[in-house]
Amino acid sequence: MSNKHFLTLCDLTGAEFEQLLQRAIELKKMQHDGVIYEPLKNRVLAMVFEKSSTRTRVSFETGMAQFGGSALFLSPRDTQLGRGEAIEDSARVMSRMVDIIMIRTFEHSKIERFAEYSSVPVINALTDDYHPCQLLADMQTYVEHRGSIRGKTVTYIGDGNNMCNSYINAAHLLGFKLHIACPEGFEPMASLLEQHKSHVKIFRDPAEATLGSHLVVTDVWASMGQEEEQKEREQQFAGFQVNPKLMDLASPDALFMHCLPAHRGEEISHDMLDDPRSVVWEEAENRLHAQKALIEHLCQDILRKA
Ligand code: CP
Ligand code: NVA
Repeated sequence: MSNKHFLTLCDLTGAEFEQLLQRAIELKKMQHDGVIYEPLKNRVLAMVFEKSSTRTRVSFETGMAQFGGSALFLSPRDTQLGRGEAIEDSARVMSRMVDIIMIRTFEHSKIERFAEYSSVPVINALTDDYHPCQLLADMQTYVEHRGSIRGKTVTYIGDGNNMCNSYINAAHLLGFKLHIACPEGFEPMASLLEQHKSHVKIFRDPAEATLGSHLVVTDVWASMGQEEEQKEREQQFAGFQVNPKLMDLASPDALFMHCLPAHRGEEISHDMLDDPRSVVWEEAENRLHAQKALIEHLCQDILRKA
């Protein structure tokens, strides 16, 4: 049995990433046209959530239902994983019963360990270091609106967090330039920056980073697990807000994205999500279509047998 995982975007080649985006666009059209497509009848996705979620849970659960399968929601409050059962043991047991597993957790090393012992594909649905599923949706949204992102400039404003690290991987795989505007001490992963320095540049001035950009992206200043730093971060990130005035410095056809949930009045102004350049609601919807394309990609063995 093939055992492909999706722990970071780099588990895909650039060509696979682009194919997956095209497939997501096709699956979206089929869904909107009311086409019934159930390639995963009787198949089960286990969803392990150690952090909160709205979009990720709804999109994966809905996607599996639309594919004719089902999804199990597993929280640490109710599973033995939450009571300290070894990750390796949980992975071996779960993967003997279900067909694919999705995990949202804290340390990235935890999902790597789980994947090592899982006999079925494992999907990273967010760790402290990466959020690759969100990038599938973001890139699908860009392609739908503007065509290929190759050669374009993307500006990420704010914390060098899991979203920012995944943007660096996307820049490498899809061939765009990435400007990152962040305060000192909040840079993305140093090893990633070093590896991709030819197309990723750090700025301290959000205006300079946004100048002429084709896509402007931001995320919360305090991620899940950093709640206690919220107040301090609000001070450190002052001046790193995305608002219509900042967007005016970008290219006239620039788009704005945010993975959501958003904090109006912090990383975005109160009016930013409703700005005509904002595509955040489609971006959120595309989580569904992009992840269906991902599940298909990872379940090729099952689909061949069907
Ligand atoms: N963007 C995102 O992953 O949202 P949720 O935390 O609601 O799943
Ligand atoms: N960086 C945010 C993304 C939420 C989808 C977090 O990790 O909380």
